[in-house]
Amino acid sequence: MLGFSHRFCLCGLPGKIKTSARRGGIWRELRLPTLIIIAGVLLIAGCTQSRGFRVIRQTVGFIRTNCYLLYDMNSGEAALIDAGGRIDTLESCIDENNLKLKYIFITHCHPDHVCGLPELKVKYPDARVCFSKLDFEDTRLYSQWMTALKPEEIAEIKENPEALELMNFDYGRNGPPDIYVEHNQIYKIGNLEIKAIFSPGHSSGSMCYYAGNALFSGDVLFYRTVGRTDLQGMSWEKIVESVRRLYSLLPDNTVVYPGHDQFTDIGSEKKYNKKVAIDGAKRP
Ligand SMILES: [Fe+2]
Repeated sequence: MLGFSHRFCLCGLPGKIKTSARRGGIWRELRLPTLIIIAGVLLIAGCTQSRGFRVIRQTVGFIRTNCYLLYDMNSGEAALIDAGGRIDTLESCIDENNLKLKYIFITHCHPDHVCGLPELKVKYPDARVCFSKLDFEDTRLYSQWMTALKPEEIAEIKENPEALELMNFDYGRNGPPDIYVEHNQIYKIGNLEIKAIFSPGHSSGSMCYYAGNALFSGDVLFYRTVGRTDLQGMSWEKIVESVRRLYSLLPDNTVVYPGHDQFTDIGSEKKYNKKVAIDGAKRP
């Protein structure tokens, strides 16, 4: 049993859901409407999408980071979004379906989103690793967590070997990406276009990736909330601007696949997001 409480969290989600999930008690704590939404979106994530691509999710690590495999069913070309640990299920899917892994997109370089990269780079040497220059430059900051985090968070990390190993991740093992992602750049797997949307706030170089009717939102936009903005390199004003940009750019029926927790969609977040709705923002 992990001794992590809600206080330490790189993403910024409320602790109640994450803590109960670790105990296997999430079903007790989530209300029925939430369960219905989860069931619906899990169905979407696990099934073939009408536009000829599939999205598969694997949640890894004690911070429960969502990693995704996106692939074009016609060409067999694929991309991963985030590498927060050992993603053996996604790797099996790639291998068993003879997919060609073309890209590994990273939403941002916090350790719970990149600590699995070194192994992936060895296993899939032809896949191009993609993240923003700003986030690469900020890895220096992320390595200085001992001075960046709050004292109570540091104390918790020190008590937890798994947390300590994650936070001490050696960024030198990743190095720079093959491609520095920039706003509005488009990548293709088969005929499917993947568009990068610069979305700073949770980190200075956070990127979201939009493909078909799917948005991979990293730690920018979550179900009914947004990522934390209280550490160095983060900005409340910027995350508000970023989330509003997503609201204005994307159709309401866009399925949002976040870096943690459950799926959602743009239309419901515009109305019901507790932090940044279409017509207001509530500073934490
Ligand atoms: Fe993060």
